Amino acid sequence: MIKVGLVGFGGIARVHKAAYETLMKEANSKVKLVSIFDVNASQFTKSISINFARDIQNDISAYHLYDDLDEMLAKEELHMLDVCIPTFLHEKTVCDLLNRGYHVYCEKPMAATFEEAMRMIEAKRDNDKRLLIGHLLRFMEINAYMKDILDKNIYGNVVDAAFYRLSAAPRWNGWLLDADKSGGCILDMHMHDIDLARFFFGDPYAVSTLSKDVYTRYDTNHTTLYYDDFTAQATGDWALSASFPFTSGYRISLDKATIVLDGNTLTVYPEEGEAFSPDCTENDGILNAIRYFVRILETGEDNTVNPSISSAQTVYIIKKMKESADRGGKKLSVLNLPR
Ligand SMILES: NC(=O)c1ccc[n+]([C@@H]2O[C@H](COP(=O)([O-])OP(=O)(O)OC[C@H]3O[C@@H](n4cnc5c(N)ncnc54)[C@H](O)[C@@H]3O)[C@@H](O)[C@H]2O)c1
Repeated sequence: MIKVGLVGFGGIARVHKAAYETLMKEANSKVKLVSIFDVNASQFTKSISINFARDIQNDISAYHLYDDLDEMLAKEELHMLDVCIPTFLHEKTVCDLLNRGYHVYCEKPMAATFEEAMRMIEAKRDNDKRLLIGHLLRFMEINAYMKDILDKNIYGNVVDAAFYRLSAAPRWNGWLLDADKSGGCILDMHMHDIDLARFFFGDPYAVSTLSKDVYTRYDTNHTTLYYDDFTAQATGDWALSASFPFTSGYRISLDKATIVLDGNTLTVYPEEGEAFSPDCTENDGILNAIRYFVRILETGEDNTVNPSISSAQTVYIIKKMKESADRGGKKLSVLNLPR
């Protein structure tokens, strides 16, 4: 049984808690959420809604609560810590936990800077521990289905692709709209589609981004990822009006089909035959990612879906996209990705 402690109990941690509660009810469950730590104890009882998950249940009576990390680690026999704290604090906390001998699941983006992300990789390697970054889109069944189509070349080659992720400004905490702490929309939210494009198509050879500052830096972003035979466009914007609902999706054009994701509905429009939506219902990416992490901890198998070096590479690409945005959208090579 993998015993887990949550580190940080703000917006996304509530979604993690709900995921553990579902996993713990499964037959032969191998995971148990035991305790929750937050530096600010008032967070335990606060009601929070985030852009893609509203009105989350918040019964915490089953868990041991701590506002001191050392005390939680001393009192509980934990195997894995699930880190849900602000991005600018990921490196320090994750390295500390890896150095203390724990496996770590950490929310995306991996870190505020590429250099910090690489220090996390070093700590993971030095301590021979596992580290999974919560790129939830890689763990949704619809995206696994899409990747399978691409990997097996079922409808031919990619002709063109476009991704979008749009939201009102994230105001459920004070740090997301400070680009020094969150990295801005480009790192916090737009990054999801950059990472998903890498998951689907592999690494681009160059990037360019046009970006606009609205609330902080890099709030509204239009990125082109350059591949040998096509380009993938991505729009990531969290400067929409306050009542605008969170919206995301993509369109991937292939030689013999156009495939569209709208929210969680994937539709395949083949060149020949009728359009259809595959029966992909397992789309709680956070739940699936945690289940996957528990499985690889139990079995010792390799992390093939989302190796932590890949998460660091996504942070590197975002760094180049920011550089491009600062230079008016200049096309920049990303051929020398750190390995
Ligand atoms: N996967 C997704 O789609 C998704 C969505 C939202 C947020 N996130 C990521 O999750 C992380 C947390 O975001 P959030 O929106 O939940 O933030 P939040 O501000 O709502 O919550 C962060 C919590 O961490 C606590 N905290 C701060 N420093 C701490 C420390 N050193 N130790 C323990 N607790 C500490 C705060 O008191 C707060 O309760 C960020 O990296 C964010 O980018 C991911």
